[in-house]
Amino acid sequence: MYLTLEQEKMLSGEYGWSVAKAMELLVRIGEALNAPRLIEVKHAHVSGVSYSNIGKYGLEFILDFYRSGGKARIYTTINPGCVDYSGYSSIIDNKFIREQLQIDSAFIGMGFKPVFTCIPYYYRPPISGEHLAWGESSAVIYANSIFGACTNREGGPIALAASITGYTYMAGLHLPENRVARVEVNFSPGTLSIPIGAIGLWIGDHVKTLPIIKGTNKMNYSNLKILLSSMAASGSHGLVVLEDITPRYTYSLEVEDKIYVEKNMVEDYVGDEVTTSDNILGYIGCPHLHPFELLEIVHLVRKHGSIRRGKLLITVPIEYMSKFKHILHELKARGVDVAAGTCPVVSVFHGKYDVVVTNSGKAAFYLRKIHGVKTRIAEISEVVKLVSRGAN
Ligand code: F3S
Repeated sequence: MYLTLEQEKMLSGEYGWSVAKAMELLVRIGEALNAPRLIEVKHAHVSGVSYSNIGKYGLEFILDFYRSGGKARIYTTINPGCVDYSGYSSIIDNKFIREQLQIDSAFIGMGFKPVFTCIPYYYRPPISGEHLAWGESSAVIYANSIFGACTNREGGPIALAASITGYTYMAGLHLPENRVARVEVNFSPGTLSIPIGAIGLWIGDHVKTLPIIKGTNKMNYSNLKILLSSMAASGSHGLVVLEDITPRYTYSLEVEDKIYVEKNMVEDYVGDEVTTSDNILGYIGCPHLHPFELLEIVHLVRKHGSIRRGKLLITVPIEYMSKFKHILHELKARGVDVAAGTCPVVSVFHGKYDVVVTNSGKAAFYLRKIHGVKTRIAEISEVVKLVSRGAN
């Protein structure tokens, strides 16, 4: 791989151990992928930061960079960890608070922005054509498909290395030849009556090349976010071309095949049936809620009056605790459990639930795997209604 003089110096240790180690990681991965060179990135988003997921070896890896003087060279944000910083949640178990605080303090010490959210585009929306190094599959697919940015689905260590060096390897979705949509996905009449999270899981599972999805220009922001994150959970997509949404010059089309997604194909992806004897948890906020999604939930909860305590969890960026304090207090008073800077997928539950009902295909996909609970995907309004006081 070609390296500039400055990059050679970084690799040889002239800028210290952490920069050399980070550069070595990038060069090693880049060479394995036949990348011709490195490119500058504007924003790194570091995932794989939850102690309950990465354990003591992951913690040591991060501390090594911190103790050896690693510093963010570019704007860098942090994904959710396993601690609820709201102090509100009775559902998220903060059993790893000591370890998570070590991780978070190391990142803050390195100059990362402590946003603890999977919607980094809320803090810094990418510019079309801009190169990024983001971890967190739901954020990557959103950055590429909605904003027309260029980022691969990086693992936590690579995003960390990109932050410390300011570079990533020039391969994958940084190259125009890998941004070519070859299959057109259409929805047959009736398909969109199925929750969008289930449809996203089906597409991720069945469409293996980069698709252009038709009809998405009629979907709202929330549905696009859920569609994309669900696809990225069950499949390996980092970019999907969305008709009339993805900036035109950031991809090309060479369509060779057309798929029609029928209602009966996706129905099974909705998940398990819910019975009246099940201990249900409703969950909304994967990916973390945008402010106007929070307002939608307030509206729904007010409509139903109140929620059965401990039965509805929402997850938000940590900043909302101060920015939307009154709204969150109202939700809490009405029985909603709020967790900030975390989510149930990267943390530990306090109690035991038979089934989690959620609007998110991604949450359903991972909660089933990680926590071994049954899951069902439903529209936001159905999730709220199911756990409201008037429901039983
Ligand atoms: Fe975010 Fe957790 Fe979902 S990190 S995308 S809320 S799994």
